[in-house]
Amino acid sequence: MKQALQQISTPIATQIDAFQQAYQAALQSNNALLQQMVTHVNQSLGKQMRPMLVLLCAQLCGGITPATIHAAVSVELLHVASLIHDDVVDESDQRRGKPSLWASFQSKAAVLGGDFYLSAALSEAVKSQQLTIINGIANMGKKLVDGELLQLSGSKNAIYNQAYYFKVIEAKTAELFKTCAQLGALSAQHSSKQLVEKAVQMGLAIGICFQLKDDVFDYQQGEHIGKPVGNDVQEGKMTLPLLYVYEQASESEKATIKQAFDNKDVAYIQQLVSEKGGIDYTLEQINLYKQKALQYLQDFEDSPTRKAIEQFILLVAEREK
Ligand code: IPE
Ligand code: IPE
Ligand code: MG
Ligand code: MG
Repeated sequence: MKQALQQISTPIATQIDAFQQAYQAALQSNNALLQQMVTHVNQSLGKQMRPMLVLLCAQLCGGITPATIHAAVSVELLHVASLIHDDVVDESDQRRGKPSLWASFQSKAAVLGGDFYLSAALSEAVKSQQLTIINGIANMGKKLVDGELLQLSGSKNAIYNQAYYFKVIEAKTAELFKTCAQLGALSAQHSSKQLVEKAVQMGLAIGICFQLKDDVFDYQQGEHIGKPVGNDVQEGKMTLPLLYVYEQASESEKATIKQAFDNKDVAYIQQLVSEKGGIDYTLEQINLYKQKALQYLQDFEDSPTRKAIEQFILLVAEREK
């Protein structure tokens, strides 16, 4: 995975270094507890796929500028803020192969730590001196909350169906990938309205693909994923693999599934989902969104950067963590 990402980032290697430096600079503070929390989060930096997409899209649309680096740092800070808060909401005790922030520092401090990352994201966006970028990040923060709350009320009221599910994953995940592509394209040296629009559509398809793959992970076994499996059922979240099986089932089967789901019978649900083709169906959907994203990419001129984004899309669909 790491090797694949490194290879993809070859056309933007120097700018990735600039990103890493600016990212660390954005996390400086004088508060001892905050410093400890930042050190904890920094112990595993994650895949950093979102900033990579910002940089690649800027390069694709004419060239990376200083504003691109600020946008890349800002989206990653916003993403990490959302992960810190998400783990509190999901009561998920593992993140990136380590205890999640609340599990090590308790929820009260973790909520504030997440607030710090969110605020750092906004001040980083301001440094770009571009209102479109500041606006993009601020609106994205609101969208993430919308997605997480839709999911929360959906799981409480069991009003899940595929349309609702797709609305949730669009808001909580795909919109952020869309923003990455949009801000990258907007910040580029010679971008045009048409290029930005194509990048936006591509980013959205990549983001849906990304969350579908994440929802498959929850039904797989493996330490390598770095977060708990079976957590979605545990939290009362019916994601696409199960949703598909549920929608296909007869009325009596539905009642059995519902009961197992309400009882949080993870083992039963996992077996059912794999036997009844829930994983295969989700993998087909992943493939569909991957093809969509690749299609949008075809509208750009061929270049090493376009090839790198093609690899990026394939990795989103085929990644193992
Ligand atoms: C996790 O995102 C949250 C989702 C949207 C599924 P990533 O898988 O990109 O997380 P990190 O940053 O690499 O840990
Ligand atoms: C990820 O939500 C999206 C956000 C953090 C906004 P999930 O709860 O589905 O992702 P993981 O599995 O915890 O990374
Ligand atoms: Mg979660
Ligand atoms: Mg969640």
